[in-house]
Order: sequence, then structure tokens, then C-alpha cells
Amino acid sequence: MKIDGTPYRTIWQDADGTVNIIDQRWLPHELRIVPLRDRAEFATAIRDMWVRGAPLIGATAAWGMAVQMADDPSDAALDETWAVLHETRPTAINLRWALDEMRRLLAPLPPAERARAAAHRAAQICDEDVEINRRIGLHGLQIIREIAARKGGGPVNILTHCNAGWLATVDWGTATSPIYHADAEGIPVHVFVDETRPRNQGAQLTAWELNSHGISHDLIVDNAGGHLMQHGEVDMVIVGTDRTTARGDVCNKIGTYLKALAARANGVPFYVALPSPTIDWRVRDGVREIPIEERGAGEVTMVQGRGPDGRIVHVRISPDGTGARNPAFDVTPAELVTGLLTERGLCPATEAGLAAMFGDLKAAA
Ligand code: MRU
Repeated sequence: MKIDGTPYRTIWQDADGTVNIIDQRWLPHELRIVPLRDRAEFATAIRDMWVRGAPLIGATAAWGMAVQMADDPSDAALDETWAVLHETRPTAINLRWALDEMRRLLAPLPPAERARAAAHRAAQICDEDVEINRRIGLHGLQIIREIAARKGGGPVNILTHCNAGWLATVDWGTATSPIYHADAEGIPVHVFVDETRPRNQGAQLTAWELNSHGISHDLIVDNAGGHLMQHGEVDMVIVGTDRTTARGDVCNKIGTYLKALAARANGVPFYVALPSPTIDWRVRDGVREIPIEERGAGEVTMVQGRGPDGRIVHVRISPDGTGARNPAFDVTPAELVTGLLTERGLCPATEAGLAAMFGDLKAAA
């Protein structure tokens, strides 16, 4: 997407081979670009959320593998890199998907050929992600068009949670792609952006994206969605996913489940934007089988912002001595999902629906 007229992706390789990322810890205050030079830096960038969002985590891991292969293409380095990057974050399945893709391609090759092949596949994974998200956007656009036609005037009001925008992917975003496409077509849209405590990806990232692209939006606290839905102010919900099971259970940022319950109670359609690398075909029951990342208590007991001197500050909001739990994701059962917006089209959130849409991928998994 363009920022001040300059096109950006969230991760890219320079002509000299350096891999760069947008370091998202500084947004919305500062657009900082940093190079990632070795495996340890790639692992830190994923674990400490310099990059985040399931598709981007996968793309970053692929580049991490490629950079390591340029340094040491041995069998031992291939296995170690898979393990070091895989343990960075447990929930988003795109991480494992990308590492498996790389290992499947590289393992049979002689070590001398691995660096070139790895860089080529990492770049391809990024390009594929962009295309997948563009297609998700076109399928989602149809739904927005229909809602706009039914309303016969006024904006289509869309609620989203966390950041499933272009910052969470290589480009376009998943949940935001239909919004960007609708805006480009001239359909008026208004987005309610859940702030998404504790790390505030909505307030810091989604709001920044929408603001930079001139899309009408309001930031809301995480608990406001149900109230807005009760009063008919939300036409649809679109969220992303970190892992969707073979039967359509959706694991996404903590709080997504409550939005789905509120949507169901109020007759608001609840769509999940799902790129196929985010499907975990090995898992059916999301609540019981998906590992949920637990992050540090400090993310809950403190909030981050920018002080008057321009520096990033962390401010404690709870008493010293109060502990905190911080599960980073939750699972929305398939029954609460109106439809899965995939790159191949809209799919029911059922085992049969996913198998009919992606039978080839299911068979290959
Ligand atoms: O902890 P994060 O910021 O990596 O969580 C991101 C989300 O939950 C997104 O909604 C999800 O990865 C989908 S991104 C297209």
C-alpha cells in the first residue's frame, strides 16, 4: 500500500540482498524500517512482534530461512533454523506452513543450491500472499456491494478486531482488503476499529492504516461493539484468523469470540477473511486443540503510548502486586461464523464447505 505516495510492502529484499521490515512497534508514531540480518534477528522480530499478523509471520520466517541458507546451507542449519523460528510464536499456523514449505523444497537439494532456491521461494511466498489477499478483497467486495445496495444509502458500517490489515500481511491485509476494494470502487464504508487490548493493534495499527488511506473510521473500546450492534450501527463484522481448523473453528486475537457472540445475538453477519495457508487441516476442534499463546503480564498491567517529549512510554494502570493473565488468542466456534472469505470465494464454515473449496490442499496436507 502507499504511504505518502510511496508504495510499501511490510517485508522486502533490496537489490543488495538485505531483507527489510517495517518495525511495527513504533507505529502509529513513526514509520521505522529495519534490516534483519541473521536468524537470531528474524526470531527476535517475530517473537517480540516487530512484525506480527499470521501471514506476515509466515513470510518473515520464510525470509529468515533464506537468509540463514545464504550463510550456512547445511542440513544441520536447515533443521535448526526450522526449530528456532518455529518456537517463536505458537498460535499462527502460517509460521509452520511457511517453514514446512521451505524445508520441503530445500531438504532434497544439494546444499550449494539451497541459498538461491530459498530466496526465490521466500519472494514467491510473499507474492502469493499479496495475490491471495487481493482475491479475498474481491470476494468480500461482493458482500459489501450487496449490503450497500440493500441499504440504499449511507455507508456500510463494518466492525473489525485487531489488525488484519496490510501490516499483518505482505500487502492488502485480509479483513481490510474488501474495505480497500470497496473504497476504491466508491462505495462509502465506515469502520469501527476495536482498540484490541492489551497490545492495541486496532488503535495503533488498523487506525493508522485507515487514517493513512483516508477511510472513514472510529476507534472504539473493545467492549463497545455489542452496544453498537444492538443499536443497528454495525452492518457486518470482518476479522482475520491465525488458524482455522478443518471444520471451520476460527482462532484469532483475544476478544474475537465475544464479538462473534454479540454478532449472532444481534443478527449481524460475522465474516472471517481466511487465506488458505491459515487452515490447519490436522486440527478439528479449535478450542481443545489449538495452542493459545500466553504473553507477559506487563502487556495487561501497563499501557504503551507516546509521552510529550516524543518518547514511547509505558504507564502502569493497575496496583503493584496485582498479577495478570494474558491469553493472546481465542477460538470462535464455526457455528458462529457466517462465512469464510477465502481467495477462492466465500465458503461455509463447515468441514464439508472447506473440503469442497480446498479439496486439493486438504489431500496434500
Ligand atoms: O498477536 P498478533 O498481532 O500477531 O495477532 C494478529 C491477529 O490476531 C490477526 O487478526 C490475525 O493474525 C490475522 S492477520 C491477517
